[in-house]
Amino acid sequence: MTTPTRRPFTLSDFARCKTEGRKIGVLTAYDYTTARLLDEAGADCLLVGDSLGTVVQGWDTTLRVTLDQMLYHAEMVSRAARNAFVVADLPFLTYQVSPEQAIETAGKYLKGTQCHAVKLEGGVTTAPTIKRLVSCGIPVMGHVGLTPQSVRALGGFKVQRDETRVLADAQAVAESGAFAIVLECVPADLAKQITASISIPTIGIGAGVHCDGQVLVTPDMLGLFESFRPKFVRRYAELADTIRAAASEYLKDVREQTFPNDQESFS
Ligand code: KIV
Repeated sequence: MTTPTRRPFTLSDFARCKTEGRKIGVLTAYDYTTARLLDEAGADCLLVGDSLGTVVQGWDTTLRVTLDQMLYHAEMVSRAARNAFVVADLPFLTYQVSPEQAIETAGKYLKGTQCHAVKLEGGVTTAPTIKRLVSCGIPVMGHVGLTPQSVRALGGFKVQRDETRVLADAQAVAESGAFAIVLECVPADLAKQITASISIPTIGIGAGVHCDGQVLVTPDMLGLFESFRPKFVRRYAELADTIRAAASEYLKDVREQTFPNDQESFS
């Protein structure tokens, strides 16, 4: 089977996709092996999300994720990506304190890993920071609607229905120079309205079909993470079942001494 030649997805491809109506496919990634497979499958963009706090580390929020941990994962994912554009999340309280703090943090990603851009959460209040990062040559993806780092202030992981606020946040992020924006958990009609009213592509998660692209948390999409299943997740595999079945077959073979066999042993 021949692999169709692909070229790397670049920053300017985000804008081109919006103009041409070509939907952008984004998945989260946290390690080299998975990132390589997602890249080979044709992901336009891999997001090293701080969702690793829940799906990799087992916490119930993203709040404990540290910068060192994110840099470690961003480095592995960006080493695996051949064609996908790699974006990494700035973790909680590594950019909110001041634009200077944000520049220092984002600089660590761009200097210390091969990732192409950073993502940060927040709208009107974060816009001046995004502007400063962009002026330093750091590409920024925004994130509005349900912003998980503000889960305590938002009172839980809830659909964000305040149209005026979410629209103002998205517009502020677009005007600050971000190249794309994640819309998380907003009603589909509102996401449609935002997508039509801003110049940068919207990447939806729980935001309906009208966004310019979609992102899913990969362990959710693969049926690997079972602790919690949001309404917007579609499972494209049932890897948790596959892993349990494979592991129990291996353990049975070990106990029955049918593994390893002669071909799997050295003479
Ligand atoms: O951390 C993450 O994986 C994210 C996505 C849910 C967009 O921010």
